[in-house]
Amino acid sequence: MPVSQIANLGVIGAGQMGGGIARIAAERGYRVLLADINLASAEAGKAKIERSLARGVAKGKVSQEHVDDTLARLVPVGSLEDLREADFVIEAASENVDLKLSIFEKLDAICAPGVILASNTSSISITRIGAATSRPGDVIGMHFMNPVHVMKLVEVIKGLRTDEETIARTVALAEDLGKVCVEARDIAGFAVNRILMPMINEAFYALYEGIASAEGIDAAMKLGTNQPMGPLQLADFIGLDTCLAIMEVLHDGLGDGKYRPCPLLKNYVLAGDFGQKTGRGVYTYEKGR
Ligand code: CAA
Repeated sequence: MPVSQIANLGVIGAGQMGGGIARIAAERGYRVLLADINLASAEAGKAKIERSLARGVAKGKVSQEHVDDTLARLVPVGSLEDLREADFVIEAASENVDLKLSIFEKLDAICAPGVILASNTSSISITRIGAATSRPGDVIGMHFMNPVHVMKLVEVIKGLRTDEETIARTVALAEDLGKVCVEARDIAGFAVNRILMPMINEAFYALYEGIASAEGIDAAMKLGTNQPMGPLQLADFIGLDTCLAIMEVLHDGLGDGKYRPCPLLKNYVLAGDFGQKTGRGVYTYEKGR
């Protein structure tokens, strides 16, 4: 058992983030209970992980034996009640406040006392999520970056009432998953999105004002500041709906006009062009990756 006391790791949400977290945990030897709204969705998440691992075999990064062992440890489940056996839970459901509050309220009743309930939220208050439970000391933010299996960072967010022991156990798990932790205070956007999203928003303003073309803005930032992706390409990769939602959290939470979401970003979202996941954002994409 990799980190002592964690025989079963619960992961909620079999989408891009939850799937990525479940994958690296299973790769590191954890038995993972991967939950989604129903069993079919959880199984679809596992199938996506399998495709990504198969690409790893094709590229010579991992062996077929590693893939088989990893998949054997990944158990799709169809409901939160199936997480009764979990010793540590990481929630990575959609970024929706009401949904997350309701999940944590239920987890509080389902999971044994002392089980840590972590959220992968990129912008919702951990203090607020903790307050939906009777154990805010066990509630913490564990913010992974996309793509989870590639990016080294986990931002660890301490809510107002998170216990020190919860932080220590969360850092131990993240490090065992091969990640580097940065602790951040529970203030809108935490550390990464407090800095990243205004940069992306500013790139939309630059495009909106005709300062350069989309390709020009991205090339300027890639070649001029050594970023792996330009900010507009990164926004498409993250999801323009997510970027807008986080800008709104910064704007509302910090009350400063400098966080005003760019009208062009809003328009893309109104058009339903969310970026790579819908096939169109600032750029156009082939679907189905
Ligand atoms: N779409 C989706 N996934 C992609 C992708 C694309 N266009 N390009 C690469 N990836 C992912 C895939 O998962 C791929 O692995 P698999 O094929 O095994 O599944 C993995 O990246 C690695 O791909 P490559 O080896 O080809 O790597 P690369 O050299 O092309 O680099 C990258 C790809 C790692 C994504 C790199 O471009 C990068 O680092 N981009 C910046 C990513 C970043 O900043 N992420 C943080 C976003 S912020 C966040 O997540 C938090 C938040 O709250 C918003």
